[in-house]
Amino acid sequence: MADSEQKESIFEFVNSGNGGLAFLNNFEGHPKGTFREIHRQANQTADGERRPLWEGYAEVKDYPRNTSGARSAKQVSTRPRVGGFFSWLVQQRRPETVVEFGTAFGVSGMYWLHGLEAAGHGHLMTYEPNKDWVTFARENLSSVSDRFTLTNGTFEENAATTLKEGTVGLAFIDAIHTGEFVTKQYEIMRPYLAENAIVLFDDIHFSDDMRSCWEDDIVKRPEIKASAQLSTRIGIALV
Ligand SMILES: C[S@@+](CC[C@H](N)C(=O)[O-])C[C@H]1O[C@@H](n2cnc3c(N)ncnc32)[C@H](O)[C@@H]1O
Repeated sequence: MADSEQKESIFEFVNSGNGGLAFLNNFEGHPKGTFREIHRQANQTADGERRPLWEGYAEVKDYPRNTSGARSAKQVSTRPRVGGFFSWLVQQRRPETVVEFGTAFGVSGMYWLHGLEAAGHGHLMTYEPNKDWVTFARENLSSVSDRFTLTNGTFEENAATTLKEGTVGLAFIDAIHTGEFVTKQYEIMRPYLAENAIVLFDDIHFSDDMRSCWEDDIVKRPEIKASAQLSTRIGIALV
């Protein structure tokens, strides 16, 4: 497909009707249940209690949020409308492999799996270093599908032994939100991307540093064929 056609198609799904979220109306008949079920499962994770943050955060300098303590699934997880977009995107693109990190409590992963089940195709590779959270994540992910591999460790340390080059059609970078981490993770990801892969960057307006990472670096890279934003939250790049 020519680059110009690709550019139109990526903007089309972001801009089409209802702020780009009209596709959420079509999921009631899904064999694995509706988004309501995923939302219910997400809300009851760890009985709604806060669980300890991964200790790796304590080593990040000048992070604009508290890097210790505990968080609930509700505080850190993808919301249903964005999750609906993830499921829809998988069904449109039908990737062989979806990669996401971090998994956290498995909520964004449930939406990726919803899309993979609906497409009847593909596999989710998801990475989470927090030993405590990964237990809840496995339970949540398993409630939707078995089309996943959950690695208890960082993406950086495990990518080479778990991914195949040129196979990742969709990737979601949602871990430590600093330009330094995100650009390194994107570079590690690149050889694994399939042609015309879509890479999503979460929280691009989290800080000036993240905004600059997205606006002044990622979207200006020569390999990026098109880019868009979903609300003020997610950067979308066609690579
Ligand atoms: C904002 S949460 C992810 C939320 C999740 N994607 C969702 O929407 O349900 C960020 C997660 O990234 C994990 N994390 C941090 N650094 C990581 C890394 N290098 N590789 C994989 N996961 C990482 C954290 O432990 C935390 O659970």
